[in-house]
Amino acid sequence: MSKFWSALLRDLHPYTPGEQPRVSGLIKLNTNEHPLPPSQRVIAALTSVDGDALRRYPDPDSRALCRAIADREGLSPEQVFVGNGSDEVLAHVFKGLLTSQSQLLIPDITYSFYPVWARLYQLPVVEVPLDLGFAINLDGYMEQPGAIMFANPNAPTGIALDPDALANAVQSNPDRLFVVDEAYYGFGADSMAGLVNSVENLVVTRSLSKSHALAGLRVGYALAAPGLIEGLRRVKDSFNSYPLDALAQAGALAAVEDTDWLRQASAEVTQQRETLLAGLTGLGFEVCPSAGNFVFARHPECAGRQLFDHLREHNILVRRWDKPRIADHLRITVGSNSDCNALLACLAAKVGDAGSKSP
Ligand SMILES: Cc1ncc(COP(=O)(O)O)c(C=O)c1O
Repeated sequence: MSKFWSALLRDLHPYTPGEQPRVSGLIKLNTNEHPLPPSQRVIAALTSVDGDALRRYPDPDSRALCRAIADREGLSPEQVFVGNGSDEVLAHVFKGLLTSQSQLLIPDITYSFYPVWARLYQLPVVEVPLDLGFAINLDGYMEQPGAIMFANPNAPTGIALDPDALANAVQSNPDRLFVVDEAYYGFGADSMAGLVNSVENLVVTRSLSKSHALAGLRVGYALAAPGLIEGLRRVKDSFNSYPLDALAQAGALAAVEDTDWLRQASAEVTQQRETLLAGLTGLGFEVCPSAGNFVFARHPECAGRQLFDHLREHNILVRRWDKPRIADHLRITVGSNSDCNALLACLAAKVGDAGSKSP
């Protein structure tokens, strides 16, 4: 605290990212990083960036990257905005677009950065409860005014929205802005990107962190009607004209172009996810159906805190929140086969104990 802090700063509760441990040898299943290395084409593109490209400022609008993304989505570059991770893109959506609305409706259990941005940009938030099975019930959002924001699949549950119901809600409410965060694109949920050509009230955001194994490169993007994208560019150019450095632009372009890598890597992760889900279910865990590269699970006989601590003692990191309704849940990233096996063996020892102590 300093006397120079603004009143707003004093009132902020910043987002806490998942732990990035400084010790080696941990099995890290806490931040939904991809278990595979990124495409070799990305590494080749990064190593071919020369000194002259670093001496100069990068393209402020990342035009080659926007065009490559647009081509793959059947859109024009005027419908694409790129930023330093989808977190930055989402922050600009709040600043430039959502604050024009009276309030923002979000699920009560979702990506915990949303309420942080809402407070930063002083936008009132209404939390709409997930249903008993942790699914998003669209009816609850239609009953009250305001912009609407979902992660699809939702995080940390992994549950995907019904695409027809969501498309119908967007199309039949043209005066309400919908933001659909597709950070976990590629792992099973149906994308809303196809709607961008025909509606003016939808922003779809995506990340290269999860689908393309590039969390360290920090690249995310938004797809939306040109007027909405122009708004995001105005925010960017009033804040930082160069959010993507030369390396990020080169690496992201190679990643987006390597569609074979994306297809194969996503298939491997989804297959591994189903193996992990079956292993957890076999140990008595209740697991949400997941369309992400993570699963959300609880054991009816073991408190989430105990499970979390037990895993941590055995050098396995997962994510858990001290929040009502989900305090007993663990969010577990789909890791490599050996990481998932180590996790299952460690949990088996703990829940086996819990089972033998129960009457
Ligand atoms: C739902 C959701 N949205 C957005 C992000 C941000 O992703 P990034 O800033 O790495 O693109 C995350 C990261 O975990 C997420 O879970």
